[in-house]
Amino acid sequence: MTNKNIGIAITGSFCTFKKLLPVIKELKEHNNIVPIFSYAVTNTDTRFYKAQQFYDDIKELAGNAPITTIVDAEPIGPQSKLDLIIVAPCTGNTLAKLTGAITDTPVLMAVKAHLRNDKPVLIAISTNDGLLSNAGNIGQLIGRKNFFFVPFSQDNYIDKKFSLVADFGKVAKAAELALEGVQMQPVLTTVE
Ligand SMILES: Cc1cc2nc3c(=O)[nH]c(=O)nc-3n(C[C@H](O)[C@H](O)[C@H](O)COP(=O)(O)O)c2cc1C
Repeated sequence: MTNKNIGIAITGSFCTFKKLLPVIKELKEHNNIVPIFSYAVTNTDTRFYKAQQFYDDIKELAGNAPITTIVDAEPIGPQSKLDLIIVAPCTGNTLAKLTGAITDTPVLMAVKAHLRNDKPVLIAISTNDGLLSNAGNIGQLIGRKNFFFVPFSQDNYIDKKFSLVADFGKVAKAAELALEGVQMQPVLTTVE
């Protein structure tokens, strides 16, 4: 995958941020990366990352300043400037809102604007309610036009039996396939 304009839309699964950094580094080698932050990402300091540090690290790694407002995300539609948006990590909150066509964060605005142009969106899920409140939403999005999923599995079926997490090592390959309109298989990866 080369010379693509790829939006990396990042939502508040803070424990997953460290897994995202090598993915951006890999994609950046041959593509233009446009980071997009949800408000939770822009505004929340956690034990995993301080918000300002994360902004600075992503800006440096991606080579572009993150989009942090709905106003700045909206032109993605009329300018048709992205080939693909990867929502990684995608929270349960954002997944549910995508299913319900709610548009109240920069990430959701970016996806809505991009879908207007009939282009692909790749979801890298990371949520503790994937097999609970969000199970129905995953089912709906998997069958919806232009939505693709990075293969995922239960990450800890003993202590967190409803939790689902994408295999971040497969984001680049799943992105390449999504650009061709193909869902990477198998969607469900083996539980460790
Ligand atoms: C430390 C911390 C870790 C979190 N991890 C997750 C997570 O892994 N998955 C998830 O769906 N939500 C997680 N959340 C909750 C989301 O951040 C919260 O639902 C937020 O409203 C998400 O907004 P966004 O989807 O617009 O980014 C976490 C919250 C905190 C404070």
